Amino acid sequence: MKMQWMRALRMIYLLGLVGAAAPIHAQEAAVTDVGERFYYEHVLPRLVENGCSECHAAGYLRPNVGLYSDVLRRLAIGDSPLNNAVIYKIANLRSIAPDRPNHPGGQRCASVEAEPCKTIMRWWLIEFGGKEGQP
Ligand code: HEC
Repeated sequence: MKMQWMRALRMIYLLGLVGAAAPIHAQEAAVTDVGERFYYEHVLPRLVENGCSECHAAGYLRPNVGLYSDVLRRLAIGDSPLNNAVIYKIANLRSIAPDRPNHPGGQRCASVEAEPCKTIMRWWLIEFGGKEGQP
């Protein structure tokens, strides 16, 4: 009886991971800031689509993509839409060799023009680009 219960709990847990988009989106409710809103409405869905949340929302790997502030902190390292720590990682820029990605999760954008890099670059403009970045 106890084993069955454990298995049921495990199933619920696994299903929760597969449907990670739902609990993450719940955070939208309290959002007022333009950049933060853009993150939850446009960036996060692209990241979930790409599978980032399978590693980066499990609770132990930084950044937690379910937390705006966690990803913003990396976006702030650099000085342009292309030149920042988030894009470096997932577009595999500044890697020692193309077959050795600098991101353990691999190259996630086929090019910087592809999603989710494209939307992340728009997000950079909103956060740090002044007027031109207004959505
Ligand atoms: C297969 C698992 C996996 C996937 C999928 C994955 N990553 Fe990662 N990522 C990692 C690991 C492991 C690290 C190294 C974490 C560390 O150094 O603490 C990392 C590091 C990073 C870092 C640097 C963190 C830091 O503080 O140095 C960023 C930014 C990042 N990932 C963003 C993303 C984004 C955005 C996506 C989706 C487009 C993604 N990752 C998909 C495993 C993954």
